[in-house]
Amino acid sequence: MKKLKIGVLVSGTGTNLQSIIDNIEKGELPAEIAIVISNVEGAYALERAEKHNIKTTVIEHKGYKSREEFEKVLIEVLKKEGAGLVCLAGFMRLLSPFFLNTFKYRVMNIHPALLPSFPGVHAQKQAFDYGVKVSGCTVHFVDEGTDTGPIILQEAVKVLDDDTEESLSKRILEKEHLLYSKAINLFAEGKLEIIRRKVLISNDK
Ligand code: GRF
Repeated sequence: MKKLKIGVLVSGTGTNLQSIIDNIEKGELPAEIAIVISNVEGAYALERAEKHNIKTTVIEHKGYKSREEFEKVLIEVLKKEGAGLVCLAGFMRLLSPFFLNTFKYRVMNIHPALLPSFPGVHAQKQAFDYGVKVSGCTVHFVDEGTDTGPIILQEAVKVLDDDTEESLSKRILEKEHLLYSKAINLFAEGKLEIIRRKVLISNDK
């Protein structure tokens, strides 16, 4: 079977990217990162990729007059590199239907809360300030909404009495690093089936 090629879109630190790289290198993820694209010049995620000899490029959204113009270039690069899956890993731009229709159900995101609670930015802070007893993380397919796409996997993280926003975020991030690769693995093995907004995971393929 041909290895799944992944395009990873980043804007920042890239610890999720790092966990994907590490799992591929350990032989635990049957995939290859074809390209890492950042919309932010100097994002640390780029350095992480370069250290592992992974191709990188910067496509700054600021340089384009419309979202579509920006996305056209993203699509062109991702297609050229043969990406069969696009993983958002701390990518801080919303993608339009134009982009999403090109990669229908082939764009994944990781979110640091149990969706549909606390979508959008600063999800860990939103959950912590709300006073929830359980938070966690979600890997989902991306649709036109903000963190509204079909849910692939979720993992719960208990909120402890003496937690701070930082300590909670740290424990969530540790789970994110496991969950994202698990979801990519399921995709790579062809085990995900989407029925309306439910993602079914098969065991038998
Ligand atoms: C993670 O918390 C992820 O859930 C969210 O953005 C953050 C990215 O962190 N979408 P990193 O760049 O992977 O370290």
